[in-house]
Amino acid sequence: MLENMKDMLNKADSGKYAVPQFNINNLEWTRFILEQCQELKTPVILGVSEGAIKYMGGYKTVANLVKSLISNLNITIPVALHLDHGSSYESCVKAINNGFTSVMIDASKYPLEENINITRQVVNYAKDKDVTVEAEVGAVGGEEDGVANELAYAKVEDAIKLVNETNIDFLAPALGSVHGIYKGEPKLDFERMVKIHELTKLPLVLHGGSGIPDQLIKKSISCGICKININTELQIAWSKTVRLYLKENEKVYDPRKIIKSGEAKMKEMITSKVLLFGSNNQA
Ligand code: 13P
Repeated sequence: MLENMKDMLNKADSGKYAVPQFNINNLEWTRFILEQCQELKTPVILGVSEGAIKYMGGYKTVANLVKSLISNLNITIPVALHLDHGSSYESCVKAINNGFTSVMIDASKYPLEENINITRQVVNYAKDKDVTVEAEVGAVGGEEDGVANELAYAKVEDAIKLVNETNIDFLAPALGSVHGIYKGEPKLDFERMVKIHELTKLPLVLHGGSGIPDQLIKKSISCGICKININTELQIAWSKTVRLYLKENEKVYDPRKIIKSGEAKMKEMITSKVLLFGSNNQA
């Protein structure tokens, strides 16, 4: 069932587990994720970046694809369709108008006041449409860094101000994680995580979930993280297997066989994350 993230993340917050956000790139990925999450009885968030939306043929195409798969595959677990890192008010509005049930407005590259202004506009638009809003404070680094810049960690007072002045549903504070592959072990600031969770009383989101050691993931969940985003590790699991398959099966040219060759490893990765996050049997 397609729904927003409110219920699933509030339940995760009180139940001390985290709901996975897996990023989707195409029809097959969407199917693999939905099937495996149904099997594990976990709620799931399908995260779609602006780049992936463009690649897949636009907001409407993505929303229709997800809705059709949910119906045709008899998916009964709660599923949220979430815009990942929406870069502007306009892209959030497009997502909302085309059937996304949740959006992230990422105005973290702007000074705090501007981040607040843009985020507030998105919340005002989303609220009466029953769409949930996630925002970022501080700045989660990218793959080029591999290590978080401590100056970009979210400040507690900024997190409180953003939450109080915007009325967002969920907060993604940058606290040491980065997107992509880490150089060494991430230095997550758990003390600040606990403070931000206690003072904002909102479910927190951990971006850059790939490659964070299991014990740090568990600790993050105990400190208020209720949603963990995974993209890179699924991509690596899939592409490693497909690369090997193509090498060992040089005569195969049917794209269905090629894409499907990555299914089992991708599903294995999904299972390991869901079990680690503790969201199995919560749907
Ligand atoms: P990874 O690619 O590091 O898993 O991060 C995903 C993410 O945070 C998407 O917003």
